[in-house]
Amino acid sequence: MQVDFSKAEGVEFFNNLEKHFKDKDVSMLINNVEFGDYGSFLDMKLKDARDMFVVNCVPVTLLTRKVVPYMLERKKKSAIINMSSQLSEVVLPNRALYCATKRYIDYLSRSLSEELGDGYRELGVGIGYWVLGLGC
Ligand SMILES: NC(=O)c1ccc[n+]([C@@H]2O[C@H](COP(=O)([O-])OP(=O)(O)OC[C@H]3O[C@@H](n4cnc5c(N)ncnc54)[C@H](OP(=O)(O)O)[C@@H]3O)[C@@H](O)[C@H]2O)c1
Repeated sequence: MQVDFSKAEGVEFFNNLEKHFKDKDVSMLINNVEFGDYGSFLDMKLKDARDMFVVNCVPVTLLTRKVVPYMLERKKKSAIINMSSQLSEVVLPNRALYCATKRYIDYLSRSLSEELGDGYRELGVGIGYWVLGLGC
């Protein structure tokens, strides 16, 4: 299945997606998508700024929200890998939105590790990525 996430910021796409996996044994979700642009914040077109925010933050949030309940029911090891970036740890000119959206992914991942408890815990942190584990 292919989708342009810049056009799927609403919940409809994600709700409809559920029918494709609810009968499957989903053991892994990799949130890899990125809109990575470089340049002055003030020179960015509004559409590009909006698309970067939507593409980098909405799919990781809504796909994780939809998939976690199925993973917790599996009673087997599962994993969600949210691709972040070393740039989430720094502040850089000309990469403001990218750094900010990657920071969002870091804090979403870390906060969910705390909120969801033993069944959902952070396994490790590497340069450029976060790895989360379910039931491990
Ligand atoms: N490369 C690095 O040095 C580096 C460093 C740190 C972190 N990361 C992170 O690692 C991940 C992968 O990086 P990468 O360099 O492999 O990135 P990439 O080559 O640019 O791949 C990004 C993926 O996102 C997809 N994508 C972009 N816009 C989309 C949209 N509107 N709708 C749906 N899919 C869309 C692309 O699909 P198409 O192929 O169809 O365009 C592609 O599969 C990213 O999250 C990135 O932030 C990368």
